[in-house]
Amino acid sequence: MNYLRLLDAAIGHLEDLKSQGKTYLNIAPETLLALQQPIRVKVQVASWEIKAEEPLTTATLTQQREKTLAARPQTQPDSPHNGSRKKTAIAELMERAAVCLKCPNLASSRKNVVFGMGDIESPLMFVGEAPGADEDAQGEPFVGKAGELLTRIIKTMGFDRNSVYIANVLKCRPDTPGQTAGNRKPTTDEMKTCLPYLLEQIDLIKPRVIVALGATAVEGLFGKPMPITKLRGNWQTFRNTPVMPTFHPAYLLRNQALSEKRKVWEDMLQVLEKLGAPISEKQKGFFQQS
Ligand code: URA
Ligand code: URA
Repeated sequence: MNYLRLLDAAIGHLEDLKSQGKTYLNIAPETLLALQQPIRVKVQVASWEIKAEEPLTTATLTQQREKTLAARPQTQPDSPHNGSRKKTAIAELMERAAVCLKCPNLASSRKNVVFGMGDIESPLMFVGEAPGADEDAQGEPFVGKAGELLTRIIKTMGFDRNSVYIANVLKCRPDTPGQTAGNRKPTTDEMKTCLPYLLEQIDLIKPRVIVALGATAVEGLFGKPMPITKLRGNWQTFRNTPVMPTFHPAYLLRNQALSEKRKVWEDMLQVLEKLGAPISEKQKGFFQQS
């Protein structure tokens, strides 16, 4: 029995009693004691906002998934030589980005150029908007609050963060002169200026699927603003690569509604399907509103 359905039923029953004029309940002392204990039920929901002590997927599922990633026929380097050429090309691109001065304001305010990270042989690439303060400090994409949530989403998909590739449209943190906190959206010019790095990254990595995280990532990729609420869940194509637009994890942190998480999760199920990755019944049921 789904825990949330049980909870709904219990609340419904209590409301019925209340509408019949009942103002109190007789509860056995042992029931009261039990109610005071923290609830430790298996909830059929991968609640990303709750710190689960266990990864949300089983070890076997992760193993299965790693096998799928390892198989990746389309992206397998056809010779070890090819694989190392790719590595060298990515390293050279990263070195160029690391000394980029095309946006003088960003070059002078950044602590690090956040190039991207993960497995360059991965069939799955996530593209975000721009580094925030945490990412700028650490030189790694998605390591702040939104990043933690993205990492949990990736885990729930059955992957390891290191087995996919993660990058941003903008490689430098948008500067916020005079501001002590918060981030700013990259400007259209900044995104246009930086896009060639991402294009080269995509051309080298050749992912089979790209996930575009949020309205700004979509705008940066496609070069025009597009309505994310209409676009998400619908496959797009970027230079022959399927792109799944979905909400940004930061949006899910602002809007904790189950319905929004469910939408992102449905988009990720489509991504798994496209990759030919096995999907468990448990995964299908996550965030289901009964
Ligand atoms: N938000 C993004 O879009 N990218 C990051 O790397 C971190 C937060
Ligand atoms: N609005 C946005 O700008 N981004 C999202 O990811 C969702 C809603």
